[in-house]
Amino acid sequence: MNGRLIVFEGVDGTGKSTQLERLAVALEAAGYEVVRTGEPYAGSEAGRRIRGMAKSGKPVEPETELAWFLEQRRDHVREVILPALERGAIVLSDRYYLSTVAYQGARGFDWEKLLRDHESEGFPAPDLVLLLDLDPGAGLARVKLRGDVAEPVFEEQHFLDRVRAVYLQIQRPYLQLIDATGTPDSVTAAIRAASSERLGLL
Ligand code: TYD
Repeated sequence: MNGRLIVFEGVDGTGKSTQLERLAVALEAAGYEVVRTGEPYAGSEAGRRIRGMAKSGKPVEPETELAWFLEQRRDHVREVILPALERGAIVLSDRYYLSTVAYQGARGFDWEKLLRDHESEGFPAPDLVLLLDLDPGAGLARVKLRGDVAEPVFEEQHFLDRVRAVYLQIQRPYLQLIDATGTPDSVTAAIRAASSERLGLL
């Protein structure tokens, strides 16, 4: 597989989608084929179930939620990520398995086991994870500023504090912490530097 898998992670409101789009444009300008994608993967029935649940404000059992995230990820990997990597594209994904490690870890599952399980199940490991780090209070303020209503199932400050705490404990060589408190341009610059230094892409 010649492609590259670059993932954006972080609590809600850290600027993942803005930064993903900026990196996509820069990579395309440099001549790469870029595939933009994300999770929950809308092409999957399980992904649509998750979105419906989040919008309804009615949580399901944590075991069910975890099973749905795994199901949509298998669909996502099979339908989007693997084919793109096999033809040599650069895949930019808004969330991937570290979201399950951090969010479902914060729900009470053993996050280290979730990480090991993903690795042993054969999900392709990311080449680079850009962890956009921001105080969840500031992230939620941004979510509201852009006119979105915080999703009650996932976007409660005390819950997101735990999500962030898990993210910050993960240690993997592909993980790059990005301070997301600065201006969007300063975050873009940090992401470009990481892509260049770690993957030689820009
Ligand atoms: P989404 O609506 O894509 O959030 P946003 O676009 O606002 O980042 O995703 C819904 C929520 O799902 C998001 O708050 C994070 C959560 N989530 C998990 O709990 N586990 C996972 O594995 C993934 C991919 C997302």
